[in-house]
Amino acid sequence: MDAIECLITRRSVRDFSEKEVEDKEIMEILKCAMFAPSAGNQRPWHFIVIRDKETMSKITQFHPHAAMLKTAKVAIAVIADTTAEKHQGYWVQDCSACVQNILLAAHALGVGSVWLGIYPREERMKGLSALLNLPENTIPFAVVAIGYPAKKIEQPERFDKTRIHFEKW
Ligand SMILES: Cc1cc2nc3c(=O)[nH]c(=O)nc-3n(C[C@H](O)[C@H](O)[C@H](O)COP(=O)(O)O)c2cc1C
Repeated sequence: MDAIECLITRRSVRDFSEKEVEDKEIMEILKCAMFAPSAGNQRPWHFIVIRDKETMSKITQFHPHAAMLKTAKVAIAVIADTTAEKHQGYWVQDCSACVQNILLAAHALGVGSVWLGIYPREERMKGLSALLNLPENTIPFAVVAIGYPAKKIEQPERFDKTRIHFEKW
């Protein structure tokens, strides 16, 4: 599939099959994550790859929309390290671009994924920091649940001309 098809056909996958996701696929996905754009090329991201089902299940205790972690094969937590922050506050956009790369890379490999928001919800940030032993100066940004899709998801139509403005609103 080409890049345009990849980004139009990517969907959030919440229903995963029994098929395993290999480490080499996870590494390929993380390589793509690290090529995301970031302000001043500060690349504030760290990744925690989680395969332990107990850890995934614990996330559902403080995240109300993460039930699919029970059938996911892998979860990747995206963590921002603000220690060497050069461009204050841009880490949110840096990590967003990074998560999008994860979703698109997974889809390009035929792997399904869904973005689970952590930041800026205090209770989720606190829960994930404690669960994953995060050090100071780190902020848990998101978790991505990963696995092969159990079923095909219908392609929506989203192009909306009324959202496009030329020159001025
Ligand atoms: C910042 C952010 C947080 C999200 N958090 C969750 C979440 O907690 N649980 C979930 O099931 N989906 C979550 N999603 C996925 C959205 O629900 C999904 O992207 C949206 O419904 C559009 O569907 P699509 O991804 O298939 O295009 C999140 C997406 C974003 C961008």
